[in-house]
Amino acid sequence: MTEAYMPDERHIMTLEQFIIDQQEREPGATGAFSRLLRDVSIAAKIVNRDIRRAGLVDIFGTTGEINVQGETQQKLDALAHAEFVRALKRGGECCLIGSEEHAEAIPLSTQTGADGKYIVLMDPLDGSSNIDVNVSVGTIFSIYYLPEEYGEPDLDAALQPGSEQIGAGYVVYGSSTMLVYTTGNGVNGFTLDPSVGEFLLSHPSITTPKQGQVYSINEGNTDSFEEGLQEYIRWVQHHDDESKRPYKTRYIGSFVSDFHRNLLKGGIYMYPATKNNKEGKLRLMYESNPLAMIVEQAGGRATDGHQRILDIVPDKLHQRTPLFIGSEDMVKKAESFLKKEPVA
Ligand code: AHG
Ligand code: MN
Ligand code: MN
Repeated sequence: MTEAYMPDERHIMTLEQFIIDQQEREPGATGAFSRLLRDVSIAAKIVNRDIRRAGLVDIFGTTGEINVQGETQQKLDALAHAEFVRALKRGGECCLIGSEEHAEAIPLSTQTGADGKYIVLMDPLDGSSNIDVNVSVGTIFSIYYLPEEYGEPDLDAALQPGSEQIGAGYVVYGSSTMLVYTTGNGVNGFTLDPSVGEFLLSHPSITTPKQGQVYSINEGNTDSFEEGLQEYIRWVQHHDDESKRPYKTRYIGSFVSDFHRNLLKGGIYMYPATKNNKEGKLRLMYESNPLAMIVEQAGGRATDGHQRILDIVPDKLHQRTPLFIGSEDMVKKAESFLKKEPVA
């Protein structure tokens, strides 16, 4: 009989412990940021619980509302938004929330008497059109300091370029639930162990391959892609043994899930300008910026095809941007086609 496999207990590290260890390395840290991350992870666990029960309780389908994006709001969009707002309000470290599901920024300090100094921008539930068909969805979050000159937090305080983020992360509610985040010092991933109800460090120091074999784009829109992009798509589909082309198409339609796969395996995700979405579809402040920070921290690249995503100076909370994100060499190659440079 073979001996039973015993996991090495010494290596079990909870998210909470990891955050505390990181905090202890920061001279002068007050613990406020650690508490904010803890609040985000608590909301993620609650949303995870709701998602796992979808289908058994009445949370499939739409609320009948159209959100600020002009998109149909799903019940789980509204529920996830409410859970994150509740956790951040209760935690007291956040002073302003910007959410895909709310037209205006939501100031917290005046409502709760708390004097939190962090701004959280989020997509509470990403890929919500996939909920009813049991396909992975996610949450994306982006964290900024409230600039000192702001007494009362308002939307202007949140309109900072992505390079000012002090933290960013996402949760993917997939075959397992993972929380991946960065504070500008590498990227770490934690998997939720449902039996103990804790996120455990499962993917320390994530780096993304410089080059992958996957491209992710909604090819149904090809007709309205600019010419350089259409040429790039033809190039990735062209047979070439040396560069291992054609690449594989993988497109779930949940940005977080497509991004997560490409981050771990290598690949490029693109959502360019299209006929229906002339400025691209993905939102700068709570979809593109946080995942751009993560990809850069993992050694990858994120641009709008011409400019670094993190350098874009925003002028609205729900601003959209074209996005090319993933393995460095692949994003650079796509950019060279957009510039119509000769193919190497
Ligand atoms: P959300 O569900 O937060 O509105 O985001 C949907 C986004 C993103 O998750 C996905 O990559 C993209 O929409 C898919 O768009 P298409 O269906 O146009 O491909
Ligand atoms: Mn989204
Ligand atoms: Mn969403």
